[in-house]
Amino acid sequence: MRNISYDNITETVVRAYSGAEDARTKEIVTLLIQRLHDFVREVELTPREWEAAIGVLTRAAAITDEERNEFILLSDLLGVSALVDLVDGHHDEGASMTTLMGPFYVPGTPELPNGADLTGDNDGERIVVYGQIRKTDDTPLGGAKIEVWQNAPNGLYTVQDPGQAEHNLRATLRADENGNYVFATAKPIPYQVPEDSAGGELIRAGSRHCWRPAHIHLMITAQGCKRHISQIFDLNDPYIDEDAVFGVRSDLAVPYDQQPSEDELSRFHGIQQPFNITHVDFVLAGD
Ligand code: BEZ
Ligand code: FE
Repeated sequence: MRNISYDNITETVVRAYSGAEDARTKEIVTLLIQRLHDFVREVELTPREWEAAIGVLTRAAAITDEERNEFILLSDLLGVSALVDLVDGHHDEGASMTTLMGPFYVPGTPELPNGADLTGDNDGERIVVYGQIRKTDDTPLGGAKIEVWQNAPNGLYTVQDPGQAEHNLRATLRADENGNYVFATAKPIPYQVPEDSAGGELIRAGSRHCWRPAHIHLMITAQGCKRHISQIFDLNDPYIDEDAVFGVRSDLAVPYDQQPSEDELSRFHGIQQPFNITHVDFVLAGD
């Protein structure tokens, strides 16, 4: 390895990793080296630009801890998180589209009965979200576990805001025997991803903004199915077509301001009025 040159460095580095025992690791590392080297050659990356990029990563590392991961945010802002999810769902024919999990999921949120009202003392309009969870062969997924989380009317998730109760606007529910779920909640609002570190540098470098359209997160788990991570977006949100992290999918964008029909009013008579209606079914892929 003494005669490393512009022309032979890529194959030399690939060869250095060719002893990787795991075949998938070898495949990934080989292609990663080739594509990274191609990128550096193609843009003719200068030493100063390389130092600037390392600076961004260093600042991301400095702010990353148990509660905040700036590398995931960089991946989100570059569309990589969305692409990994799209690749994962690419062959799930007939299933609903999934999307990003985001950083604010907390496992182990206490279970509430199907039909629960999560609104509590949060301000804002109440919306009732309902639908059916089924498999791609149309079998209803009775007992499916639905974990829900969203931001409060101040734009913050409870994990970001010590002023909120620990489980504010979060719940774990179970679909009924026909796979039907329903819950009421305070309408979420558009939200800004953190812009005070490396992610913000990236946003500003691209002259972008850091808004996400209003959304409710769901994670659905059912036996025999792939874990299904989703978000229900407000179709009429001003940021619906410019989500900072590329998470919106057309079948997950639904109006948050529909008046309930007579049938819906009688089905959900136990929920305090007034409320608007949001209807979304979820079709899960087999595992
Ligand atoms: C969110 O959905 O809350 C989120 C997603 C990606 C980055 C930051 C926040
Ligand atoms: Fe979110």
